[in-house]
Amino acid sequence: MAGNADDSRGVRSAQLLKGQKALVTGANSGIGLATAVALGRAGADVVVNYVAGAGEAEDVVRRIEGFGVRAYAHEADVSDEDQVSAMVARMVEEFGTIDVMVANAGLQRDAALTEMTLAEWQKVIDVNLTGQFLCAREAAKEFLRRGVVEEVSRSAGKIVCMSSVHQIVPWAGHVNYASSKGGVGMLMQTLAQELAPHRIRVNAVAPGAIRTPINRDAWSTPEAEADLLRLIPYGRVGNPDDVADAVVALASDLLDYVVGTTLYVDGGMTLFPGFATGG
Ligand code: BGC
Repeated sequence: MAGNADDSRGVRSAQLLKGQKALVTGANSGIGLATAVALGRAGADVVVNYVAGAGEAEDVVRRIEGFGVRAYAHEADVSDEDQVSAMVARMVEEFGTIDVMVANAGLQRDAALTEMTLAEWQKVIDVNLTGQFLCAREAAKEFLRRGVVEEVSRSAGKIVCMSSVHQIVPWAGHVNYASSKGGVGMLMQTLAQELAPHRIRVNAVAPGAIRTPINRDAWSTPEAEADLLRLIPYGRVGNPDDVADAVVALASDLLDYVVGTTLYVDGGMTLFPGFATGG
């Protein structure tokens, strides 16, 4: 799906990130796409990272440029150390620095435990967890080098980790994915503790069921959607914009005192909906 960010919703994000430089990994589809567009709408220059789908990434760039800010697409595999270093180095060269790193790129390779190959386990850990480590590390180096620039932001930099409700909700048949997101939660908290004295804020956004290609099977037929809605007290499947707006808020000075927090954007999925009538 090409994401469903509505370019006319300018008032809601009122240039909260004017003059800032943001990088979003996995920004050619789903939540990453909506987030890159929302950051551009909020006034940031944006690097649109992708690993496959150059055409989609270029479309995202053009949408972002429509807000009068700068953007370019950059192909890199977030699990590859050299490619991540080169991506951030190019951004510093082209945009001068980085203020916001959104470590969003993620994937699923689902299988029952006894069917899951080591390659399926490793791929998910490499992209979802190691990828976030590498992106956070490279961004932090630049944040530390540059420090706070008061006219731009009260902090020296922001890292937003894209997590999931499966940071805390066990998920049978998805042990690689759930383990990666559990890891993201601790990665985020540890980095937040380590970097806060340098005025670097690290937080996570944890989406529930959002209408994107990663979970198409869970919402694309009326039967599947009805099943899914049983897990969502708020009674609707989320949209990529629901998550993108949360990222903009966390990355902005509006939430400058929010450090090491996971913001669940899940329509109440983590409220144990099964207990609404049982227990
Ligand atoms: C997964 C989706 C799933 C959702 C809620 C997300 O992190 O990527 O496939 O629908 O969690 O279970």
